[in-house]
Amino acid sequence: AIFQDFAYSDPDSLALILIFKIPVARSRKASSEKLKNMAASCNKKILFVCLGNICRSPTSEVILRHLVKEKGEDEKWEIDSAGTGDWHVGKRPDKRTLQTLKKHGISTEHRARVVTSKDFNKFDIIFAFDESNIRDLKDIRPKAGKAELKLFGEWDPEGVTNVEDPYYGDIEGFDVMFEHCFRCCKAFLEHSK
Ligand code: 4NP
Repeated sequence: AIFQDFAYSDPDSLALILIFKIPVARSRKASSEKLKNMAASCNKKILFVCLGNICRSPTSEVILRHLVKEKGEDEKWEIDSAGTGDWHVGKRPDKRTLQTLKKHGISTEHRARVVTSKDFNKFDIIFAFDESNIRDLKDIRPKAGKAELKLFGEWDPEGVTNVEDPYYGDIEGFDVMFEHCFRCCKAFLEHSK
């Protein structure tokens, strides 16, 4: 494993002054050319979809909303999250998600909901977190749905395309997940017009 240092320091950004040492195992990094090409299809109505809608997708939703607000672009974006499973419908995000967000000065009022086929008509992009999410989403995607279905991790400058589900692990996994989602949100937003 390669160890990589991250330092995010942005005065407007909730005192995100962090130095993490995260084990990074990967074979290829996303080239800036590739990210530029992906950005050509960027739009403003974004739905994040994971399995339970209590860890990865609400984390990404609030990070992206925060970064968009920081850019003064919150009027231009609609950002939401949902899950493919219904176990946690109506519930707040996992305690560990809330705890991790709180460390970064972020809170959320999100309540879990299930993704529906109508979401494919409302949103421009639906971001999934792993191949299993993609399979579940393809099962409900209507033929004429406009939303592009993408793996969010494709935006990771570190090239980790699968955002691991931290639910069955310990709290450290939530830090790794936060950093992963943060990198993807930053890259996605930087390349969005
Ligand atoms: P998420 O994590 O998909 O990132 O919200 C999970 C949350 C709950 C469960 C699985 C994954 N669950 O099996 O209840």
